[in-house]
Amino acid sequence: MKTTKNGTLNRNNIGEKHTFYGWVQKKRNLGGLIFIDLRDRSGVIQLVIRPEDDCYSLAESVKSEYVLKVEGTIAQRESVNPNIPTGEIEVAVEQFEILNTAKDIPFEIKDDTTALEDTRLKYRYLDLRRDTLKDKLVLRSKVMQIVRNYLVENDFLEIETPMLGRSTPEGARDYLVPSRVNKGSFYALPQSPQLYKQLLMIAGMERYFQIAKCFRDEDLRADRQPEFTQIDMEMSFIDTEDILTITEKMLARIWKEVKGVTISLPIRRMTWDEAFDTYGSDKPDLRFDLKIQEITSLFTNTEFQVFKSTIENKGIINALVVKNAASSFSRKEIDKLTEYVKTYQAKGLCWLKLTEGTLNGSIAKNLTEEELKQLTEKLALEENDIIFIVADQRKVTKTSLGELRKKLGHDLHLIDDSKDAFVWITDFPLFEYSETEGRYLAMHHPFTAPKEESIPNLLTDKEHCYAKAYDIVINGYEAGGGSIRIHNHEVQEKMFEALGFTEESAKEQFGFFLEAFDYGAPPHGGIALGLDRMIMLLAQTENIRDVIAFPKTTSAADLMTEAPNIVDEKQLQELAIKVENK
Ligand code: AMO
Repeated sequence: MKTTKNGTLNRNNIGEKHTFYGWVQKKRNLGGLIFIDLRDRSGVIQLVIRPEDDCYSLAESVKSEYVLKVEGTIAQRESVNPNIPTGEIEVAVEQFEILNTAKDIPFEIKDDTTALEDTRLKYRYLDLRRDTLKDKLVLRSKVMQIVRNYLVENDFLEIETPMLGRSTPEGARDYLVPSRVNKGSFYALPQSPQLYKQLLMIAGMERYFQIAKCFRDEDLRADRQPEFTQIDMEMSFIDTEDILTITEKMLARIWKEVKGVTISLPIRRMTWDEAFDTYGSDKPDLRFDLKIQEITSLFTNTEFQVFKSTIENKGIINALVVKNAASSFSRKEIDKLTEYVKTYQAKGLCWLKLTEGTLNGSIAKNLTEEELKQLTEKLALEENDIIFIVADQRKVTKTSLGELRKKLGHDLHLIDDSKDAFVWITDFPLFEYSETEGRYLAMHHPFTAPKEESIPNLLTDKEHCYAKAYDIVINGYEAGGGSIRIHNHEVQEKMFEALGFTEESAKEQFGFFLEAFDYGAPPHGGIALGLDRMIMLLAQTENIRDVIAFPKTTSAADLMTEAPNIVDEKQLQELAIKVENK
């Protein structure tokens, strides 16, 4: 068995004899001496083979990625390499065995590879040999161990829930699995273990966790995969504050053990309304402080038609002030920003610059002296400041300025990435109006408890109902989310009614689940953290594929195994499935 870790030895090991196993990272022939960097999971060590050594000609024949077994003695190196931990030593080789050869590799195993991602995904097992990817898997494994230890110490039980379950409506699209035994029927892969973990609370497990695989057939983005992992938790006899505390202590432990960073607890809390009003997003990136400012009240009597009609139509006027940046924006650049906000439905982008003591810009001529003066005072404008203004309905104004805020933060390098910025977003709206469906949907899921004060308004004022729901946001990423659940039958029924379910349709889709609540459901709630996203943040990568051993492309394909693939006619027949338009 291999016992020596190549990358862990140093000058203290000089004189020791070891057996080394690993892959040939690099071979050089210098003045008759052969140098081989032998790589294993822990790092590389340099082997030296001299012309007089018996194994010389064998060593000469090796190529990149051959697998070797070598015995030798650790010696001081003549020319030290300060860039690697084993740089002061080398191995004087005594026994040399080639355990396996390797074909010419399709790309070099080095961190700054220029190989295309598609090639690297096809040969993922080679790509994973690169330190940069391997280190991320090591990190991922470490985080999973920290999580397990922490949760077990806190009396959580690790319980697995089924992969083959029932398709339930709401949420994303399901991945379906046809049943052979029950032809024409389908299982659904879990989008999350939500129903099961609540049933485990009804079953009396009190504290559950699972590092759970989840499957969602949705449009993919840089931080989404069709198959991803959650740290899924549920607890009984708790309130919101307990869940936030338990979770943030876990995050603090992870950040401490992985990065040596102390997160100051409690993590800041911000209501959804505050986040949306101030940052135009429910996942604000707080690594920079650029706030959306409310200026509607300055224009209640304005003659400027755009602002006037916005106010008449119950819209709002908001501004983003970028300090000392007016001179950095040309007309052309501002035009580009205007196009950018238009992609978020804003009709336009007004702007003003304060230069030589006066405000000028796209709307300077439309506003009165008094309005310009009030604007300068309210926004405490100084020389060379630039303001961007959107006037529209609340959702459009906030969202477009929120997206502009992110863009400016990025483009103007306002982001301080030396520190991670954590924030809890609480008190989410309970409902969200879906234009496409023409009805209100649950913003989280239909089992999320309303805030007490919203219960009487569930049927009458959906716009102003709030939920006991929370998200943890890190550097502008939604790293996790959860809620206190409804455990009271009447409230659940009212919630279904509010979502447009009839008694029968609710029973048909969630009957088994609703019935369970009639047998003594404890008050409970939980959260799920996106493990992949958390590792992305810890590893400082913006590509979720970097932190998953065998990820899918943005078109949900695995280029290595070539999944999904067309299956045998016989398999389809067994499942009573006929495929059209293959
Ligand atoms: P939610 O749907 O918010 O909540 O998911 C929880 C967290 O999972 C991560 N996540 C994803 N990561 C990668 N790829 C995806 N496609 C993807 N989708 C979600 C996010 C997200 O915050 N059952 C509830 C939790 C609960 O109420 O306890 C749930 O699944 O980081």
